[in-house]
Order: sequence, then structure tokens, then C-alpha cells
Amino acid sequence: MKKLVVMISGNGSNLQAIIDAIAEGYLKAEIVLVVSNRKEAYGLVRAEKAGIPTLYFPLKPYKDAGKDRHAYDTDLAEKIAPYNPDLIVLAGWMHIFSPAFLDHFPRKVINLHPALPNFFIGTNAIQRAYEAYRQGLIDETGCMVHYVIPEVDRGEVIGTVVVPMYPEDRLEDVEERMHDAEHKLLVMCIINTLYGRENH
Ligand code: GRF
Repeated sequence: MKKLVVMISGNGSNLQAIIDAIAEGYLKAEIVLVVSNRKEAYGLVRAEKAGIPTLYFPLKPYKDAGKDRHAYDTDLAEKIAPYNPDLIVLAGWMHIFSPAFLDHFPRKVINLHPALPNFFIGTNAIQRAYEAYRQGLIDETGCMVHYVIPEVDRGEVIGTVVVPMYPEDRLEDVEERMHDAEHKLLVMCIINTLYGRENH
């Protein structure tokens, strides 16, 4: 069975989409660990309900001890490595990884970004896309899944999907449409990455 580690920071609706796809037999994989950097992340509750082991691993103690990101990334990689993941899925994970983490898992870390490639890099991407649409600067937005490299929201693209916006949309409408699109795209990209011929 292919092993997934899923990393979250919040609600975990994308984690839920993976859990559901596995339960339905659509995605043949097992989530061996869910990692959160935030204790109150609802995704941890979702993982526990599904019987998945969890790891809460906050950055703050490192900062308080005057340690740098390199130390955090190295220790986190060492915690995850024994699980032997085939793929590490960043599903709303809010930290940027340095090579101290990524070098442990070459071509095994993928990220979901709620915008199309090269658009709205970083946080609040949906809101920024909505505002750009209202200003007539763009016609559509979308989401993407890509391999993770040290540069934020960059790296080889695995899949994208367009999310349309309409004149009557409120921000909440675009957010909802985006999340629906993300849930589907993420599961499909995990399947492509795990089972696609070009990856073997
Ligand atoms: C998603 O929009 C993802 O693209 C972004 O953070 C959000 C996480 O949502 N990076 P959830 O925690 O999976 O519900």
C-alpha cells in the first residue's frame, strides 16, 4: 500500500477529501501520519476520527529557544522519515520548507496552492484573485498542485484546474468554488503522482 503523510495547518477539508477518496476505494493509499503545526487545527480532529496517527509539531518552541528554521526542518524530517512515505502532501500547511526538510524526500513533497501557476504566490491567494477580478484585471482563477522546492508556491506543476468567477460572486462564493475544485484536483494529482507511468 502506498503511504501518504499529510501536513495541515487548519480546517483540513483537503485532508478530508483524501480520507474520503481512500474510504471510497478511489485512491489506493494509506495516510500513515497527519502533521499539524497548529494545535487547534480542525484537521487533527478529522484525522483522529479516521483513526490516523497525528503529530503536532509547532515552530514556536524552536523560536523561543533561539533555534533557526534549519533545526525545525531537520527535526521534523527526522520524525517523518521512519514512516517511509511515498508522498508527503502539503494540504494547507503554512510553513515554507528549506532544503533541510526537502532533501530528505526528493520529489516526494507536493503542495496545493489556491491559484494558477505563477499567480498570487503566498497567502490570501483567493481574496487577492477575487479583488483582481473585481478590478477587471483577470477573468478567472484556479488552483494547482506542484512539487515543492525551497521557493514558495513554485516548482514543477502536476495539475491545474480553472475556477471561474462571475459578476454576482461574493468572496465566499469564490472560496467555496475554489475548495470544491481543490478537493478534486488534489486527489487526482495524488493518484497521478503515485501511479502515473511517468513517475516510475
Ligand atoms: C486551501 O485553500 C489550500 O490551497 C491553502 O490552504 C487551504 C487549506 O484548506 N493553501 P483546508 O485546511 O484543507 O480546508
